[in-house]
Amino acid sequence: MKVVVSVGGSVLAPDLEPDRVADYATVLQDLDDRGHTLATVVGGGPTAREYIGTARELGANEIELDQLGIAVTRLNGRLLIAALDDRAAPTPAESYESGREAIRRGDIPVLGGVVAAQTTDAVAAAFAEYVDADLLVYATSVPGVFDADPNEDADATRFDSLGADELVDIIAGMEMDAGSNAPVDLLAAKVIKRSGIRAVVLDGTDPERVARAVADDEFDGTEIRPGA
Ligand code: UTP
Repeated sequence: MKVVVSVGGSVLAPDLEPDRVADYATVLQDLDDRGHTLATVVGGGPTAREYIGTARELGANEIELDQLGIAVTRLNGRLLIAALDDRAAPTPAESYESGREAIRRGDIPVLGGVVAAQTTDAVAAAFAEYVDADLLVYATSVPGVFDADPNEDADATRFDSLGADELVDIIAGMEMDAGSNAPVDLLAAKVIKRSGIRAVVLDGTDPERVARAVADDEFDGTEIRPGA
């Protein structure tokens, strides 16, 4: 199975503690050993937010802030590359094309951000579409897709499964509320919908959840069904 695993920066490197990155590398190596074709996309997390906050105070414009965010996603990507050793492409792929070339060589590509004005959620969806992945896994800091922001609403309920068109409607509603924590952003949801790729959103604080979602199709999270 060809799988794109998107790991949020707040999940992979919340405080630059090495064990989480090493645990992700172990899970990815195990899936690689089982014959799956893998690609990863890594987010910027709190480190990106710190850099962006400081640069904003220094007067950087929004595109400059995005470029800074992209740089941090690639720094986080280099942590995962270090842990994956010779299975990973040696540098973060800076384009979808170079990521696809890495797969063709038999390496695991590690992508960060690609272009300003989006997030790595969208990168993961677009890359999954580009390489015709069978599955897209979002390892995030929330345990799935809810009908409301679970941080704000005690009655928020998690979906076990929903159609890609429903995902777009839910995320569009959430993004109308300033400051809400959508599990994936709207651009990503729209690319998931048009690509017809099956996606899973799960709590990435335990990388074993990613392993189960890929290897055994058992997961504790939300499945996004294509074409529904
Ligand atoms: P992230 O995708 O990591 O955003 O990109 P995030 O919402 O902080 O996600 P977590 O915490 O990792 O889960 C960090 C920043 O990098 C820029 C954006 O500014 C984004 O906010 N970025 C990222 C881009 O401009 N383009 C990209 O393709 C990716």
